[in-house]
Amino acid sequence: MSDLFEEAEAAAELKRLAEEIARHNRLYHSEDQPEISDADFDALIRRNAELEAKYPHLVRADSPAVQVGAAPAGHLAKVPHAAPMLSLDNAFSDEDVADFVGRVRRFLNLGEGAEVALTAEPKIDGLSCSLRYEKGVLVLAATRGDGTTGEDVTPNARTVADIPERLSGKAPDVFEIRGEVYMAKADFAALNKRQEAEGGKIFANPRNAAAGSLRQKDAAITAARPLRFLAHGWGEVSELPGETQCDIMHAIAAWGLPVSEDFQRFTDMDALIAHYRAIETKRADLPFDIDGVVYKIDRLDWQKRLGQVARAPRWAIAHKFPAERAQTTLNAIDIQVGRTGKLTPVARLEAVTVGGVTVTNATLHNADEIGRLGVRPGDRIVVQRAGDVIPQIVENLTAGEDRPPYVFPDHCPECGSEAVREEGEVDVRCTGGLICPAQRVERLRHFVSRHALDIEGLGLVHIEAFFKDGLLQSPADIFKLKKGVLLSRERWAEVSAQNLIDAIDAKRTPPLDRFLFALGIRHVGEVTARDLARRYRSLEALREMVARALAVREEIQPTPAEPERKYVQRRDKAVVAVIDTPNIGPEVANAILDFFDEPHNREVLDDILASGVAVQDVVHETRQSEVSGKTVVFTGSLETMSRDEAKAQAESLGAKAAGSVSAKTDLVVAGPGAGSKLKKAEELGIRVISEADWAAIVAGAS
Ligand code: IVH
Repeated sequence: MSDLFEEAEAAAELKRLAEEIARHNRLYHSEDQPEISDADFDALIRRNAELEAKYPHLVRADSPAVQVGAAPAGHLAKVPHAAPMLSLDNAFSDEDVADFVGRVRRFLNLGEGAEVALTAEPKIDGLSCSLRYEKGVLVLAATRGDGTTGEDVTPNARTVADIPERLSGKAPDVFEIRGEVYMAKADFAALNKRQEAEGGKIFANPRNAAAGSLRQKDAAITAARPLRFLAHGWGEVSELPGETQCDIMHAIAAWGLPVSEDFQRFTDMDALIAHYRAIETKRADLPFDIDGVVYKIDRLDWQKRLGQVARAPRWAIAHKFPAERAQTTLNAIDIQVGRTGKLTPVARLEAVTVGGVTVTNATLHNADEIGRLGVRPGDRIVVQRAGDVIPQIVENLTAGEDRPPYVFPDHCPECGSEAVREEGEVDVRCTGGLICPAQRVERLRHFVSRHALDIEGLGLVHIEAFFKDGLLQSPADIFKLKKGVLLSRERWAEVSAQNLIDAIDAKRTPPLDRFLFALGIRHVGEVTARDLARRYRSLEALREMVARALAVREEIQPTPAEPERKYVQRRDKAVVAVIDTPNIGPEVANAILDFFDEPHNREVLDDILASGVAVQDVVHETRQSEVSGKTVVFTGSLETMSRDEAKAQAESLGAKAAGSVSAKTDLVVAGPGAGSKLKKAEELGIRVISEADWAAIVAGAS
């Protein structure tokens, strides 16, 4: 019914799963403090595998299947890194690179004319690995892990042809060579072909294949995989054979490890950028995947002075390549109907490969976007893919051709009701409300979704089937489902039926905020639902308030001489005053009242409560700490918790978690890879702390 929504949701869920699984892995392996049972953990892994199988193009670089599935958790021993393995800040434009050089010059207090030499080499899309040589002999190979602790993959690394057992010539007592383990594109394709023939795991991309192959318990499997290695730096060393990045990379090459053929030193910025462009041009022809060019300050004494911010060095930056694009034909524009009746156009494309991934759908957002691009079925277009977002159409190559424009439907394709675009709105909506099957199904799906009631095992396929057969019409029906009815249906067996019934029963006492979010009230997202729950604490108190607000809205009538606008303002102000909840203004207030004013919605709500659902009151108090009442921004990747958890912690301390840095920000918590937000915080002189500092504040709250 709405595969694009489904895709967006799948992408979001895959992200959450990656974070959640990573967290549980950490709790289990690093902290020996698991929070969930092995069976629950396996269920997360299975859910991830299901979604990955259904949406292979959404498989993430940090897919838990690679992190966990290929090398069953716990098989690899943990090893602390003698020197942390850092990540890199990104530059997305030539200006960003110039800014980077400018920052370095200012930091080092260099005069205008002082020469700054930089090295440049491709950024390989693989996984980093640290090879420790003692007296020239390989003694340890470790993955990056969390940067502080990695996994011991020594026997596996020994099977990689590019990694010598002994360094040639005279090497220092201790020298850790760091670089990227990767798989060449051709080897990846051949491996997948072989895996397919043998019924083995199919890898989403060369990076995942490399990670999955290196992180094996059985080194014989790694040996059978065509892995390569390219050195790009070093970790702990007893002695450095030179004074510049170039010197050391030459020494590493002389010891017998591969260094990029495109490694070069530049003092002229134009030449540096020309090198970047040259590498970009030959990117597709390179035998392996790269995603940018890494620049490093050549002088090691300067690297030392520059040091690092959060988890990235100040002396290096990754100049990323822009999103990948391809040309294809727009075959059709389909319209999908969402939970609130919003009509979303989806572009159906002639299949095309964009950066190694086959694309057949792209988002068109809304009618205005179609107008802006001037696209019609049959047009040649340019489609773009960036990161794990849904592909977008960025250009119409046949815009000028004399053909009539696409006409956006004025009726809902699902129920035939009129579809209208209200003044000031960008979206066209179906007016069918609850007679529209698409909206009803979407509402049910929203009700059980992860951030709402989170009922596991009740996916779209089941909802659609149950809806079609009249088994599920409104959310209350979920709680009336009987095992016997499930068993009478095709493909339901004792275990699966019991699992679903158990999953539903487990959610009969939802917290107030989740329940409010699940109702799908327009404009009431998770944050507003939480604000309302905090303010009213129980569903009864909230409904009493709504009844009062509705009475006020009815009562306030225009006075004879009053202009409409003034009257609406006066009425809205009174309503907002009754709702009296932080961040809730007239638009949200009216949406809440409209929802409860609709008799059908009240019936559904009462029906849910009558079917054995007891919404939990809010009992927790916010704890006091130095951040109470402050605005906090989390940026970069967090290592010990998900972003959701970090936000929840902030809120439990009475702080507000904001998405962007501004003059109103009091504190920035920066993890590895923090980019523009960190930069802005530094510019504004805002206090920046690490994740560990944050954890200390949380632990210390009273
Ligand atoms: S230097 C201290 N050079 O990219 C700087 N990293 O996004 C550490 N990578 O974890 C890395 N090619 O795994 C460097 N030529 C290159 C690289 C490279 C790929 C990876 C590396 C690092 C990640 C950071």
